[in-house]
Amino acid sequence: MKHLITKSIKTVGVCSLGVLSLTLSLPAFSVEHISINIDTNQTGSKINKNIYGQFTEHLGRGIYEGIWVGTDSDIPNTKGYRNDVLNALKSLKVPVMRWPGGCFADEYHWRDGIGERNKRPVRVNSNWGGVEESNQFGTHEFFELAEMIGSETYLNVNLGTGTAQEMAQWLEYMTSTNNSSLAQERRANGRDEPFKIDYLTIGNEAWGCGGNMTPEFYSHLYNQYATFAKTYNGTQPVFVASGGTGDDTSWTDVLSKNKKAKMDAISFHYYTLPTNDWSVKGKAINFPESEWHSTMINTLKMEKFIQDNIAVLDKNDPEGEIGFYVDEWGAWYDVEADHNPGFLYQQNTIRDAVIAATNLNIFHRYAERVQMTNIAQMINVLQAMILTDKEKMLLTPTYHTFKMYVPFQDATHIPVQTEQMAYESFEGESYPVVSASAAKALDGKTYIALVNLSASDEAEVKINLQGEKAKLAKGQLLTSPKMNTFNSFDNPERVKPVKVEHKVKSGQLNVKLPAHSVMVIQLN
Ligand code: AHR
Repeated sequence: MKHLITKSIKTVGVCSLGVLSLTLSLPAFSVEHISINIDTNQTGSKINKNIYGQFTEHLGRGIYEGIWVGTDSDIPNTKGYRNDVLNALKSLKVPVMRWPGGCFADEYHWRDGIGERNKRPVRVNSNWGGVEESNQFGTHEFFELAEMIGSETYLNVNLGTGTAQEMAQWLEYMTSTNNSSLAQERRANGRDEPFKIDYLTIGNEAWGCGGNMTPEFYSHLYNQYATFAKTYNGTQPVFVASGGTGDDTSWTDVLSKNKKAKMDAISFHYYTLPTNDWSVKGKAINFPESEWHSTMINTLKMEKFIQDNIAVLDKNDPEGEIGFYVDEWGAWYDVEADHNPGFLYQQNTIRDAVIAATNLNIFHRYAERVQMTNIAQMINVLQAMILTDKEKMLLTPTYHTFKMYVPFQDATHIPVQTEQMAYESFEGESYPVVSASAAKALDGKTYIALVNLSASDEAEVKINLQGEKAKLAKGQLLTSPKMNTFNSFDNPERVKPVKVEHKVKSGQLNVKLPAHSVMVIQLN
């Protein structure tokens, strides 16, 4: 079906009579004119570095092949972890990694993944393709990986098929410093020092694969498990209750109201599907322009979901003690042909870079409550940073976006005021063409991120700067010839950032943003 795409510019300005709203119709494929104001004296919340968190599950080739190849592999590796991927993750400054699932977590029994590797049991990964789970990657391997790339650890314990006792013993095994049998067993397995668990969540998607529970039932179980989730190394993890999804705020509501044990955050999951239909989600590469539009409209729903959940938390937790962690998000497409359907392997185009940057800009705006997010997933699964094929590795457009955004980790948010915005309209819905975010980074400089959400049109962005004496804006631009350009193993650098430089004149910065692009600039 052919969709008619119309365009409109909605200009919102303030005149002596109040707010003036004017809508003009324009022909398709034009240059959009946007005007924004940034006052660097108006700072907001800290953008927690954990907004840039990753999620890695025992799913498809995410862990096995993706990062763990084993010590006997021909692929160059350090203690079994492939070197190319390790180096790419180190440069990405991954702040935190969530493991071992996902749905997998609720069927994971920690004892399967410790001890001599050649003696570990082989299980069935019933969630993801029914394939063999060799347990070659377990507790020690996860914490070692985190230490190698300098990331914090976010552990998802088994509620669905485990027991409070099994969880408690795992925690003792990992954290005990005394001579308990479990601590001695850890030492015998090669680790003297306790492991550091920074974040801990109990169960996953309890409304679905985690046990098809009601929020009330889960909240009681959460209180029970959280009571017995003791650590012995002098540090307590941040405790996360597993929350809801989409427009359903009942999980946030019930969990925050029924809180009896330690609960520092509630999680939330939302995936962007081009079609909103789980049986035919839409293609990762060969998608029509209509699916570009529906993808943008669907990904922008994240903002309303966050607002609605924060409104619930503001009511139930006015002191702001409970964080809101979006610990699974990203684009979910139909699996690539010739791949195991249970492995969720998908390619990654410039559209994914635009999705990533748009969501990161949203997270920045709600940074007071949104203190962690974990894109799904780190390697070879869903909206991945990295894809591998045997000895080959490529960095996706999503990887480049996350890398360009590194200065926003732990930066202080600066609200961006929109003076004039163009909108793209599609099937009765419209979305803004440009998304912008600004922050004062730890290096003392102001950074601005700009995203052009249009599949076809350039945007001219006029930025009025206040409180800044900058003369120059330097940074990187990520774009591509087509809306579906991607990096392949034969051509891994089709989409990569290029340097840009713009002059700032009398506090004004004019930037041309190509269609489907992401730009991050530093003011000097
Ligand atoms: O990320 C893939 C799956 O999506 C996770 O295992 C589950 O939590 C979610 O439904």
